[in-house]
Amino acid sequence: IRPTYREPYRPVYHFTPPVNWTNDPNGLVFANGLYHLFYQYNPDGMEWGHMSWGHAVSKDLVHWQNWPVAIPEGPEGMIFSGSAVLDSFNTSGLGSASHPPLVAVYTSHHIPDRLHPEQYTQSQHIAYSLDGGHTWRKYAHNPVLDLHMRDFRDPKVFWYAPDSQWVMVVSFPEQHQVQFFRSADLIHWQHTGSFGPAGDTSNVWECPDLFPLQVKDASGKPTDQTKWVLMISVQYDVQYFIGTFNGKTFVADEPVDRIRKVDEGTDFYAATTYNDIPGSDGRRICIAWMDNWAYAARIPTFPWRGFMTAPRVFTLRENEQGKPVLYQYPVDEIGQLAVDSVQIRNRLVDEAHELQISPANKQQSNYPFTVGKLSLELSQIKGMVKWAIAQHGDSAIWVNYDAATGALQVDRSRSGITHFDSHFPAIIRMQLRPDQQIRLDVFLDKCSVELFVNGGQKAATLLFFPHPDQTGISLQAVHGSYRVDELKLIRYPQTAYL
Ligand code: FRU
Repeated sequence: IRPTYREPYRPVYHFTPPVNWTNDPNGLVFANGLYHLFYQYNPDGMEWGHMSWGHAVSKDLVHWQNWPVAIPEGPEGMIFSGSAVLDSFNTSGLGSASHPPLVAVYTSHHIPDRLHPEQYTQSQHIAYSLDGGHTWRKYAHNPVLDLHMRDFRDPKVFWYAPDSQWVMVVSFPEQHQVQFFRSADLIHWQHTGSFGPAGDTSNVWECPDLFPLQVKDASGKPTDQTKWVLMISVQYDVQYFIGTFNGKTFVADEPVDRIRKVDEGTDFYAATTYNDIPGSDGRRICIAWMDNWAYAARIPTFPWRGFMTAPRVFTLRENEQGKPVLYQYPVDEIGQLAVDSVQIRNRLVDEAHELQISPANKQQSNYPFTVGKLSLELSQIKGMVKWAIAQHGDSAIWVNYDAATGALQVDRSRSGITHFDSHFPAIIRMQLRPDQQIRLDVFLDKCSVELFVNGGQKAATLLFFPHPDQTGISLQAVHGSYRVDELKLIRYPQTAYL
């Protein structure tokens, strides 16, 4: 099967493998001017299996070039999730001072007896590349960390400069714990601490990540405070904790029963951030699997299955109580795709006057909106804002916002093709502070919406599978009215690269 990149639902600026199955993003690392994206990949089919690390690279986080499978499944096991680092000082000795190795640290999932796949073991292995990531070799003396456990996976490794040590945060999924290890050479690891159970323990803990961020005040100005963010995937969400890290262990600032979600949509999992992004701004960029284990095996795409989210920049900002919370917004680079735009200002919407932008509207005829960004600034909201994206008749992603209660709802139950799984037709609810004004930005890419409230204070990511005529936008009012201070549609190209 040859991919055409013109298949129905093939996104333009979201990464998808050319063919076959993907789940988690892995080994996000910036090295020699390239953003590397590895991903859980089945080279043999459109379902989970034969897990290997697929590989793509990008100069701008928007256009991706496919490279060959980096780390294939082997007799020692499947290649599960993990991370990658540039070993600049050749601490591992796997390269040389002039050729510092790229090192991938991942979980090997070993099944000793094919007849009993449930009797697996998991341990941490490494592989390395001496040619900038083109070719990879598995380390000859794997595993580098083996506790003879069944579930022990998803190592995230990073350089902890204050102690000149590598740090690994890795999961005990069933115990709802992450463990911390440290190493001088990426090969010998020593246990230093643990965190959990805490927050959401309703399901297995997977894919931990830990990183520092400078705290910004409510207006976005940097303060002199730095906090650590511990991010953990718990099927089917990603939670985070804010606290301190001393190189050995993490301590949360808030009581550990407090649950904070990174994204409140249905399709955001196994989120992980880039290692080694240089420069004084040192952006902390996150990519997640834009999918959900509940129905991932049945989503109606062909000849691939699985999507990555848009790369997002994470920041910490103080809320009204002066407590830092996570903000996120897609990278600016996506904006370079803009081909044209429509802007509407100062329009009153009430029950008698809705605002429509669709091929049926003569003024904006021929403006099918299936790939791009929609920004809305609304004020003087009384009653409820009702808003449709990718609309045709009753089919749409429906968004409601009630200014009196602050409830924001995103409904994909009538969003096109939804019948392939009973979990799919969902309605998600987000609680915002009641407010008569709101800013919303929605990134649309054929079959996904990524919605950001008030510049990234809250996010919701959802897949949907529209019918071909679902290209309209409309804004309505329920029992009230509001002012559209600004509505801006920016279109991106309709066809993916390649
Ligand atoms: C998370 C996960 C990881 C594991 C990988 C296997 O989605 O279950 O814990 O390493 O997928 O593909």
